[in-house]
Order: sequence, then C-alpha cells, then structure tokens
Amino acid sequence: SKATTNKTTTKRPKAASGMRKGLTAYGDPGFSLFLRKAFIKAAGFSDDALDRPIIGITDTSSDYNPCHGNVRALVEAVKRGVMLSGGLPFAFPTVSIHESFSNPTSMFLRNLMAMDTEEMVRAQPMDAVVLIGGCDKTVPAQLMGAASADVPAIQLITGPMLVGHYKGEVLGACTDCRRLWAMHRAGKIDEAEIEAVSQRLAPTVGTCMVMGTASTMGCIVEALGMALPHTGTIPATHADRIRAAEASGREAVKLAASGRKPRDVMTQASLRNAMVVLQAIGGSTNAVVHLAAVAGRLGLSWDLDELDRIGREVPVLLDLKPAGSNYMEHFHWSGGVPRLLKELKDHLDLDAPTVTGERLGDWAERAEEVPGQTIIRSLGQPLKKTGAHAVLRGSLAPGGAVIKAAAATPKLMVHTGRAVVFEDVEDMTNRIDDPDLDVTADDILVMRNAGPKGHPGMPEAGLLPIPKKLAQQGVTDMIRISDARMSGTAYGTIVLHVTPEAAEGSPLALVRSGDRISLDVPNRRVDLLVSEAELAERRKSWRKPKHMRQRQRGYRKLYLDHVTQADKGCDFDFLEK
Ligand code: FES
Ligand code: MG
Repeated sequence: SKATTNKTTTKRPKAASGMRKGLTAYGDPGFSLFLRKAFIKAAGFSDDALDRPIIGITDTSSDYNPCHGNVRALVEAVKRGVMLSGGLPFAFPTVSIHESFSNPTSMFLRNLMAMDTEEMVRAQPMDAVVLIGGCDKTVPAQLMGAASADVPAIQLITGPMLVGHYKGEVLGACTDCRRLWAMHRAGKIDEAEIEAVSQRLAPTVGTCMVMGTASTMGCIVEALGMALPHTGTIPATHADRIRAAEASGREAVKLAASGRKPRDVMTQASLRNAMVVLQAIGGSTNAVVHLAAVAGRLGLSWDLDELDRIGREVPVLLDLKPAGSNYMEHFHWSGGVPRLLKELKDHLDLDAPTVTGERLGDWAERAEEVPGQTIIRSLGQPLKKTGAHAVLRGSLAPGGAVIKAAAATPKLMVHTGRAVVFEDVEDMTNRIDDPDLDVTADDILVMRNAGPKGHPGMPEAGLLPIPKKLAQQGVTDMIRISDARMSGTAYGTIVLHVTPEAAEGSPLALVRSGDRISLDVPNRRVDLLVSEAELAERRKSWRKPKHMRQRQRGYRKLYLDHVTQADKGCDFDFLEK
C-alpha cells in the first residue's frame, strides 16, 4: 500500500508540548505538571518517554461492535508507528456504536459519541490524535468531534469485511441480507436456509463491504484529505490494514509537529470534493446528513442544491453493490479512492489540502493503473449516467428530501399515485402485511414520525417492506416516502429525509390515505396534491407525537430539545460553530 512508504526516523521530534498541554487546573502550572507526571509514572513511564509529543488514539473496540473487531490490533500498530517516529502513544476509550446494537437507533447516539470524542480529545494532553472508526456512525461522530476539538487529527478506518460465499454465490452485508430476507418473506426461502445464510453474510470482522454508509464514509474521509490515501478501502483483515495503522501513527507525529488542524484540512473546497465523490461512488444517503453536520461544526456552508447540481454532472462510476455488483475489496485492488479521484479530476478542486500537507491532486497523480479493471468506470462509460443522489423539493418536502436515484426503478421516477399512510414505524409494522390492507402496486407508501425527533433517532426504516400480498404477486419496488433514513446498503424508489419531519407538524404530518402524491425526479419535485385550505383545516387537529408531550430526562431530553432537522445534519443546535 502507498500508505506504508514513510522512512524510519529515530530522532526525537522537537517543539512538542506533550504532557504540558492544557495545564490549567491548579493555577500553578509547575505543580499541575508535577502531579500529572507523578500519576502517570504509576504506569511505569520514564521521563524520556514522557518528554515527547503525545499522540492520542481512540480505542473504539467493544464486544458489541464486530465492525471494530480489529481495533485492538490497529491500536498496537498505531502505537508502533508513533514510537518509531519518536512520539509517545496514549490509547483511550470513547463511545463505540454498532448499527445493530444501538437502541433506539445508532443515529440517536452519534452526537453523544461526537461530544465524547470532542471533549476527551480536548481534555487530555495530546499533540495529535488518531481516530479509529468504521461502523456507520462512528466516523461521522469522530469527524464532528475532531472539527470542534480543533486538535491535529488523522482518521484511521477499520476497513471493510471480506465477501461472503453461499452455494457458489458471493454475498454482501447487508445488501444481500435485505434481498434474502425479502425472499424469505415472499416464501421463496425457508427457515432452515435463512438460518444457514445468516452465518455467511458477514464472514469477517470489519464494516459492511458493499457501498453502505461505512464504505461511503471511508471513501469520503480520503476525499476530505483526513486519512492517508488508500486507507479507506483496505480490507479489515489484511496485513496492509495493519501497515496502514503503523503509517497513520507515524503520520500523526508529523502532524503534531506541523500543527495542522482539522479545520485547515476540511475546507469548503474539500467539502465540495466530498460531494463529488459521494455522487460518483453511488454512496449512502446517510452521508448527506453526516456531511451537513460536519459542515455545521466547521462553520462551512452546506447546500443541498449544490449536491443536486453535482449529481447532474457527475455520474456513478463505481460498480459496487447496491448500485452495481462488486465489493469494497474489488474497489481497493482496482486502485481505490486515488484512482477514482484521478478519473474525477475535472470535477474536483485538486488544490484542496490534506492531512499530510500534500494537495489532494498529489494523491490522484500517484494513483495506480490496474490493467483491465472494470470496477472504476471512466466518465465516458459510467455505471449510471447521473450521480447517486437527487434532492427533491415540493409541497410535501419544503425543506428538501433525498432520493438515491441510482438505486431506484426508472419507471417509477415520474409517477402520481394514491397515498397509503402509516402513522409511524409501529403502525407500519402492524399493518403492512395485513391481507385486508387497501393497497396496490401503483400506490405510494407513506410513513411518518420516523424523523430526527419523531421516532426519535431517525431510524433506517425508510425502506418500507413491500406489503406481503404484493410481494407474493412479484412486486419488487414501489414508491415509498418518509422522514426516516435508509441503510446505504438498500435499494428501491425511496424518498427519504422529508424535511421538516412530521413530528414538527409539517405537510408530511397532514397526508391522509387516499390523497394523491406526485413524484417527478427529473424535475426534482415531490408534491402533495391537496389544497392549502384543506391542509390548514387538517392542521387544526394535529398533535405532537406522545413522547414529545411527555416529560423526558437525561440524554433523551437533551436530544429531543436540541436535535436539528436532516438538512442541518441532525446535530445538536448548540454544537454548531
Ligand atoms: Fe457496521 Fe454495517 S453494521 S458497517
Ligand atoms: Mg448501515
């Protein structure tokens, strides 16, 4: 890997503040330092060790987080890199979030992890920090925290899993989890077989290896210049991943000496580059929310319509599931993000800064050519003619909504249909498979109260299942509209992140079954065909969801009082710059 070419240096880096950083506690800096050293010597450090630049490392390992199952090994390798470059590494724990083990949702906890990361990076003495993250919400949380802590930071991704195999078929978590489960629902796969498959879908530690949110964010941190080139895509279990960790440790010592902060790396130009890459990789819709939050932390402008304009110019180039048919390891061995950047050079600002002090363009220029590779398509022969995401507006979503056009059914892109409304996730779950549900394939399924405040935590429930009776007739896609999010590994004609959300009393809150809704993706419209007068009448009897009328406590109260809407990134309002 390109990430491993640093030369060895045994010289002690100078101008380090090390243990002296942030000595404010006792009004006597000398005593504070004396105390600090006295305590840390309990762990057996020498003065020589302590008198060096200190590199913090976030240890996000957790038995609940198999996507981070290699973190302990990565921490060891980062430490080696730091020490080989003359620094002193200090690993420390932060919140760790796995998609499947976070109730009510991982998104509910993302801001908690961002706050934890920010405060612990700022509170403890460190001259730079290596942020080890991978599973969907962890990397956004770390970028948000790093942006606000304003300490030199480099991101290290845990890396994607290897692919799964079942009866000669290659399986991907969790695009195929959804496909196979849908087949099970339709009665095509029995209980025993779905059990057998569950052991093959996620065959190694690491993150989902399709172009889901974790893979998307792995690519985006490279595009933002926040991680070493190629390190977003190396499989979690490969030796190169360990070497990338060592290289990131070395780089962190250089970064500490340079004093380059996250806000020096993540500029308005880098943010736009990230939008270009997001469109070209066919990335997860979740990244749209996460990038908005990172922009908010940095005080950069975030323009959904700019993302839409980019999507009209920049096609999907990557042939990865769910938009295409391959996996992250194939992307990696085809040249990875630098090779993609090279293809996109006319759409990018190649002078954007990176964590190493090089320009982003330097990474693109060094990109490897892999003869015969077909994973990274050329601009002339893209996988899809337009970008992954379109931003919709209209009377149903005055603040915007997002559709992953690359994963949608072309014939549904312009469609007017009758709404079949579900009040919330629970109502949907209870009624979707009811044989008496009044629904046809031409209808539009609408679910509300699954937004940032509504559920709360904006669950990935936007991929409403096809009603069982329709699925059994062979219907595989329908228009589905909600204020929820959707897993990046999913596909279908799904309108997400409807803003404002229903829990705020928006037009989405007022739709009734039988209303007509018009979706027009080419013209970027989603409209509720009901008169303003009728909506005003309905608004009179609207009430907030129950949990928003009840007394809340703790983090849940903080969350409900301060979470912003999807177009602002669902951060807490008081954390924006
Ligand atoms: Fe962690 Fe998919 S569940 S990346
Ligand atoms: Mg996901």
